[in-house]
Amino acid sequence: MRSSSQNLTGRIKGVLSNAAVDARVRFWRSPHQPQWSDRELKPLDYRYWRMHNLHRSVHTGLIAEIAQQEPKSPGATVLEVACGTAWNAPSFIGQGFKYCGCDISETAVSLALRKFPECAFLNLGVRDLGIVRDASFDVVYSSSMLEHVGFHELAISEMARIARRSVYILFFEGLSEDDDHSLKFFPFSGDHVNGKEKDLFGRKIVLQEHMRTSERGYYWNRYSRRKMSTFLNDLQYDYEVMDHATREYMKCESVLHIRKGLVE
Ligand SMILES: C[S@@+](CC[C@H](N)C(=O)[O-])C[C@H]1O[C@@H](n2cnc3c(N)ncnc32)[C@H](O)[C@@H]1O
Repeated sequence: MRSSSQNLTGRIKGVLSNAAVDARVRFWRSPHQPQWSDRELKPLDYRYWRMHNLHRSVHTGLIAEIAQQEPKSPGATVLEVACGTAWNAPSFIGQGFKYCGCDISETAVSLALRKFPECAFLNLGVRDLGIVRDASFDVVYSSSMLEHVGFHELAISEMARIARRSVYILFFEGLSEDDDHSLKFFPFSGDHVNGKEKDLFGRKIVLQEHMRTSERGYYWNRYSRRKMSTFLNDLQYDYEVMDHATREYMKCESVLHIRKGLVE
């Protein structure tokens, strides 16, 4: 058991680290931020490539399937929520979609825009999607993002709201057979808020607010298939869960496909 002095030390540390984070927010909001050079952002692209590469065959297979499944009018649009540095952009563009990416990290978005100047990018967190009109994009796609936020139900509802036809959400560890979600929170360490990590990944480190806790940090969640189904049934959207049982190109991943089918 923790002694009361340990508890007090923990609380003081928490207050101090939140104060440090708030100071960072003020710093990042300064209008005099320096520009990022291509050389400075290169390591970020590599970090995103490594994440993307773990599930590359799934992205490729899924995007090809989306292109087949979705009745495509010329100029069909896709919004990739939490696009990182937009490693999926070439596949969507190759399938004839107009690609738009959105991410809470301004460094990721800055680099994505340099790589794909013909595409549009929004530097928005998923909780800020309220400024996007209903049914703005034919398809909304998101991968490995819900696992790291503390408001998955809001995020899913928002992504469904702004999609016209379909939402595809890829869970990199798959949905579990457990009865309940496993939601694990890790407070940010000094390295996250002060050091190289913050510099590279941008102000998402300070902007990330999870609703469930006032502490800054990140989640590592695994969602229960059963509980997710209950939530989706309540939303009254038609949906399917795609995984290796029905798709050859999938391994441990699951994909939630919400069908809105709003085609005029
Ligand atoms: C694990 S990476 C996945 C990147 C990419 N989607 C992929 O599958 O390779 C998580 C991404 O989610 C973004 N992210 C985290 N929280 C977010 C939020 N609240 N709103 C939007 N993007 C967020 C991060 O900046 C990061 O780009």
